[in-house]
Amino acid sequence: MKVLFAASEAVPFVKTGGLADVIGSLPKELAKQGIDVRVILPKYEDIPARFTEQMETVASFTLQMGWRSLYCGIQKLEHDGIAFYFVDNEFYFRRKGCYGYGDDAERFAFYCRAVLDALPHIDYMPDLLHCHDWQAGMIPVLYRAHFSHQPLYSHLKTIVTIHNLKYQGVFGKEQFQDFFALGEEHLHGYALEMHGGASFLKGGLLYSDYITTVSPTYAEEIQTPYYGEHLDGLLRSQNGRLQGILNGIDYEEFDPMTDPHLEFNYRDSYAKKQANKLKLQERLGLPVDKDVPLIALVTRLVDQKGLALIDRMIAELMALDAQWVVLGTGEPRFEELFRWAAGMFPDKLSAQILFDEALARQIYAGSDLFLMPSLFEPCGIGQLIAMRYRSVPIVRETGGLRDTVTPYDETTGEGTGFSFTNYNAHDMLFTIERAVRLYREPGVWTNLMNNIKKKDFSWRRSAQQYADLYRQLAVASEVGQ
Ligand code: GLC
Repeated sequence: MKVLFAASEAVPFVKTGGLADVIGSLPKELAKQGIDVRVILPKYEDIPARFTEQMETVASFTLQMGWRSLYCGIQKLEHDGIAFYFVDNEFYFRRKGCYGYGDDAERFAFYCRAVLDALPHIDYMPDLLHCHDWQAGMIPVLYRAHFSHQPLYSHLKTIVTIHNLKYQGVFGKEQFQDFFALGEEHLHGYALEMHGGASFLKGGLLYSDYITTVSPTYAEEIQTPYYGEHLDGLLRSQNGRLQGILNGIDYEEFDPMTDPHLEFNYRDSYAKKQANKLKLQERLGLPVDKDVPLIALVTRLVDQKGLALIDRMIAELMALDAQWVVLGTGEPRFEELFRWAAGMFPDKLSAQILFDEALARQIYAGSDLFLMPSLFEPCGIGQLIAMRYRSVPIVRETGGLRDTVTPYDETTGEGTGFSFTNYNAHDMLFTIERAVRLYREPGVWTNLMNNIKKKDFSWRRSAQQYADLYRQLAVASEVGQ
């Protein structure tokens, strides 16, 4: 079984969000299940030289994008046993960052086109194209419109995975006609049309053979108007071929026993975890005190992450007998909120408005509680890393947060974290207050640590589910369905 992942980012090459973690780790686990998985990414300028220096060019050809004849190079690099291909065109991709340019539609149209055009040139013909998020969303559309009738391609199946329904790649219809050579029949309301324009992701959802998203709860939620981002009707109509498969994390990459960024490595030793906490408090300039609970936020500072609830309650939160550390960058209003709080309450909150992987690991290890009050959360990776580092999650019960954190029950001693249901600032505050109170109650943390330790959030089980799905689709293709 051969599966080609098409995605716009992957650790360790380039990352703006959780998608990169998934693309960097799931293939390794699928390979263990005997699947020949490879990955194809755009070759951005930001990919570190230590990787680009090792890439070899395996193909170069001219592709046709509407009326344009364009150069396309394919370079290859093996990393951790997985083959990565990179789509090379300096005009489109030799720029800082991944997204946010006025011609993003054209850039990712080129990428989608390049993935399909590359297949006969790279000595690897997959059975399945697994497309991630809107940037790869037009691959199934191009496939149906221009490739499926060619003998070389006719066996291919396509899957689209939604990592975040909010980002859909909506652009003017004329761009779709131009870049993809699509006729009107592909652009009406029952096809790609969206808000008067057309959508990469909607195209992927409609023209693929199967749709997955990154948790079972999110798969349900996106079929409702509240979470559906105007695609809930479409998703309801397609729900026979829609499934939520929970993300895992790379258990070798995220392991407090071997993590080189930590002062004291540990797994189940609470004393060593506490030693990391004291180090962290010292580094952050917070009062060094093992008895005060340290609450962490490691996140992109964007609306999705529920920061409006924190903004609303900042005075009450600072009045709690707890310490806070915030790590991340994002919207100026949230960066300012935390800078302000750190200035007002220097003994209570440390604002690290930056991204630093080493510090992130020290925070997972040194914190007692990890807050994710998300407005919505397709899966969420922070809470999984937090639990691996024995930091107890406080979450809103949405998407993957609901599927991975079980609320602590004081009567039975069961549960792995704390949670609240409604997107409401007081509900969040009361939940945090309860966590802070229980932190000081004997026995509770021992229970929580024991319960968390029994959970497995590695990729093993989810990779199995993907492998089963691939096999079902491949069988369907053999019997000509
Ligand atoms: C997006 C989602 C996040 C998910 C990640 C990987 O970043 O917002 O919830 O964990 O994709 O699938």
